[in-house]
Amino acid sequence: MESSSAANWKHSFLYLGFLYSLLCFLHNQISHNLLIGHRPVRVKKTSPDLPLRFRSDGTFKILQVADMHYGNGALTRCRDVLDSEFEHCSDLNTSRFLKRMIEAEKPDFIAFTGDNIFGSSSVDAAESLLRAFGPAIESGLPWAAILGNHDQESTMNREELMSFISLMDYSVSQINPSAEDLSNLARGSRKKIDGFGNYDLRVYGAPGSHLANSSILNLFFLDSGDRETVQGVRTYGWIKESQLDWLHGISQGYQVYIRHIQSTRIL
Ligand SMILES: *[C@@H]1O[C@H](CO)[C@@H](O)[C@H](O)[C@H]1NC(C)=O
Ligand SMILES: *[C@@H]1O[C@H](CO)[C@@H](O)[C@H](O)[C@H]1NC(C)=O
Repeated sequence: MESSSAANWKHSFLYLGFLYSLLCFLHNQISHNLLIGHRPVRVKKTSPDLPLRFRSDGTFKILQVADMHYGNGALTRCRDVLDSEFEHCSDLNTSRFLKRMIEAEKPDFIAFTGDNIFGSSSVDAAESLLRAFGPAIESGLPWAAILGNHDQESTMNREELMSFISLMDYSVSQINPSAEDLSNLARGSRKKIDGFGNYDLRVYGAPGSHLANSSILNLFFLDSGDRETVQGVRTYGWIKESQLDWLHGISQGYQVYIRHIQSTRIL
């Protein structure tokens, strides 16, 4: 009797051991497959070298790119090309062109100024954004984007687009100024700002120069909206009072700052 209960106990023990290994195995398999596209989900984006700075030779080169109208990559054919070119022209040509421009011009910063993707031919806005900004991300240069009137016509609204863009690698885009930035502004210009993609970027003086710790160029990005209907007439959006108030508030802050620097210098 006793030996059989010892055997039972041994079996139970082996059985539990087996169950435990099975669970460990399943856990590893499942957690492995839970990773999106079998790649680990990265929550933190890769940031570029900041702050933005002039070079030692006193230049700061910006590559401005507008109206890429990106769709679904190889599947989206070019518009406005000759019939003979149509067969072999797609979004991939846009990507190759952007890559060549970055290599040839070696800019310090890339500014994408709207209609980055073409909503009506994009089946997945996130995928189109990743492809459209792909060459900028691969270059590792700091870049920023704002929206045109076609970006939101796919699967994301303007707020979602700017939120996604602000989280992409090497992007210095923002959805809107932070609450902290707004609270530093004069009273009256603190109200909510219309649109998504209103922000300012500071470019500092060359490393080692006497302006190395000062912002000497400000790049203002403003969301001019998509479409609006005014008195029954369909038209394009425009920059609103709230945005101008914000712009005004910030630039006044800089003027006070510059006067302060000048008076300190005179002293
Ligand atoms: C698009 O790229 C392909 C492949 O490099 C090239 O053969 C074609 O000429 C390009 N089309 C245009 C219009 O530049
Ligand atoms: C800039 O700041 C750094 C670090 O605080 C300091 O070492 C440097 O002297 C400053 N340069 C100028 C020009 O003020």
